[in-house]
Amino acid sequence: MPPPIPATLIPGDGIGPEIMDATLAALEALGAPLRWDMQAAGLQGVKEAGDPLPPKTLDSIRRTRLALKGPLETPSGGGYRSSNVRLREEFNLYANLRPARTLIPGGRFDNIDLVVVRENLEGLYIGHEHYIPIGDDPHAVAMATGVNTRQGSRRVLEFAFEHAIATGRKKVTIVHKANIMKALTGIFLETGQQLYERKYKGRFTLDTVIIDACAMKLVLNPWQFDVLVTTNLFGDILSDLVAGLVGGLGMTPGANIGIDAAIFEAVHGSAPDIAGTGVANPTALLLAAAMMLDHCRLPEMSARLRTAIGDTLNVDKVRTGDVGGHSGTAEFTRALVTRIVNA
Ligand code: NAI
Repeated sequence: MPPPIPATLIPGDGIGPEIMDATLAALEALGAPLRWDMQAAGLQGVKEAGDPLPPKTLDSIRRTRLALKGPLETPSGGGYRSSNVRLREEFNLYANLRPARTLIPGGRFDNIDLVVVRENLEGLYIGHEHYIPIGDDPHAVAMATGVNTRQGSRRVLEFAFEHAIATGRKKVTIVHKANIMKALTGIFLETGQQLYERKYKGRFTLDTVIIDACAMKLVLNPWQFDVLVTTNLFGDILSDLVAGLVGGLGMTPGANIGIDAAIFEAVHGSAPDIAGTGVANPTALLLAAAMMLDHCRLPEMSARLRTAIGDTLNVDKVRTGDVGGHSGTAEFTRALVTRIVNA
């Protein structure tokens, strides 16, 4: 038996606890050697500790440097700042890896196999914003500051390029808007092109595309892309678009990789509209757990998990409603665990 790997577990808000139970059942059936330290964050953190990111949770991740996280609710407009953004900043999680692969054939798009690498710490997404009052309107003008640095751009581009080589990808596309935001996204494009010329030329093809054209091309012919690397806000939007190509948010995992830790999660949010109804699709979080097993150098276990997910969906045809099935979370989980145990 390999020694247990300490890891932080954050069930999260909304559907979080439901899909986390499913994921833990699968990991247990696999015999994954993970020793969990359960912690709260988001709305649950506020309820338990009066803080959306309690110090105890941060201490746990500081210790384990590894976490599996359910979605965390962030109030829109006012309220507290996103715990997800704070976690990324706290642990320097600069690269957000979001693979999208067709798992259920016969959909609108077949055989999709794409990776979006999103810069996770800079850009317009950092939320450095303020209002300027004019007369009696306190919100007369809204302003946001975007910051991209050479060093921040280089490290995520390097991550994307290395990932492409390590996983045998043939093409990397830098997505930008340097025709309009010449400085803010120009620095990202320029850094990527220079890095490619200096260090990576010939090891894969480098392409560049403007974000709006990229969105159209992804819908018309997604197969022309392989790895997409882009700044924070564009990556946020594109990864949901790409999720739509493979059956929706219930099917896409994400890894936040950084200097001080790695945090694995589903791309989707807490889905308050279906929370507590037992219909949530746990596949995205299960696939995030598979990425975590890869990160822990347990590739045989992650392969077993991915095969069992595929067989549950396509051989047993047990599927949740969001991907055209009639099963609830519990029934899907039972079928998946049976697949894992009998493999
Ligand atoms: P959402 O991703 O929670 O939901 C969008 C739509 O997809 C909803 O109709 C929902 O029912 C559906 N959906 C999402 N995941 C599903 C699943 N596993 N199975 C079946 N259907 C699923 O996005 P929304 O509603 O914009 O955000 C809700 C909350 O989640 C917000 O507070 C937001 O800030 C937070 N959020 C958190 C994220 C994270 O923790 N990484 C990421 C995105 C949003």
